[in-house]
Formats: sequence, C-alpha cells, structure tokens
Amino acid sequence: MEERAMAIVSRRKFLKVGGGSIAAGAAALASPGALAEQEARHAGRVTLPYPEKPVAVASSMPANEPVEFNYPDDESPCVAIKLGSAVPGGVGPESDIVAFSTQCTHKGCIVHYDAQTRNFKCPCHFSMYDCEKGGQMIIGQSTTDMPSIILSYDASDDSVTAIGVNGLIYGRQANTL
Ligand code: FES
Repeated sequence: MEERAMAIVSRRKFLKVGGGSIAAGAAALASPGALAEQEARHAGRVTLPYPEKPVAVASSMPANEPVEFNYPDDESPCVAIKLGSAVPGGVGPESDIVAFSTQCTHKGCIVHYDAQTRNFKCPCHFSMYDCEKGGQMIIGQSTTDMPSIILSYDASDDSVTAIGVNGLIYGRQANTL
C-alpha cells in the first residue's frame, strides 16, 4: 500500500517536473523579442505593413457587379462590390462597398459572385459565403469566413482604397509576403 502511494507521488512529481522542464525549454527557444511580438499580436497591437492600393472610383462602380483587383500583392485576387444598400463594414457615400479575397478558404479555388443572392459560391466543393455579412461562411467544406479587404473612402475624389485585410488569405502564413 505504502509502495503504491510512493509510486503515485513520484509519478506526480515526475509529471510536474517534466511539465516545468518542457515549458522552460520552450521559453528558452523563443527569444524575448519574439515572445513580446507574439503577445502583442494576440492583443491586437501589431498590424502587418499593408500597402495602400487604389481600387475604384465609387460613382463609377457598376451596381452589384464585382470589380476585380489584386491585394495586397499581384498573387492575391480580390473583388470589390457596390451592393446597393448599406452593409456592416461598407464604405462609400452609401456605405455599401465591400471587398474580399476570392480564394475559397477551404482549398483556394476562386469563388464566383452570385448577384441574385449576393453570395460567393465556390465551384469546387460548394462552400458559400455571405457578402452582406462580411464574407460569413454560410455552408460547405470550409470552416472560416472569406477574408475581407479593409477599404477606406476619400470623399474629396470619390476614391476607394484598399488598406488591409481581415482574416488570413488562403495558403498563406501571413497576408503580406
Ligand atoms: Fe472551395 Fe473546397 S475549395 S469549397
């Protein structure tokens, strides 16, 4: 009985010491700077250096039709859409202009915009995303929303500019390469 109790105690002690050693090892591998950056990222204090890129002149955008552009670089296809009525996150005089990456978050196929439902539809495995709700995933194989492109609007020249990305673009470890 006593022997068994000793065995339990020593196993607990081993796990405690072992766990501590693993944590200490991990901390030793990550530099203080890397840990600080990681903590800052989790706290939302660090933003990636996104470029500013002109997308369109708001008044010249066709209603409910995708306008293609690439952002944050040439390898990343996106569309901007003037939906015709205000939506959360929309910019422009009517707060109705939104933009998204067009690479499906499941396996990267290019999604197509359905003007009738105002959804993106993926031809590969049929995931669907709601453009009026920030690219929210509706159904399908994917498990995350479409990355949305953060837009700014300048009333002085009616210009719409891409300034960042919400969410991770498919196939990337970071949105900016
Ligand atoms: Fe779009 Fe699979 S790649 S659902």
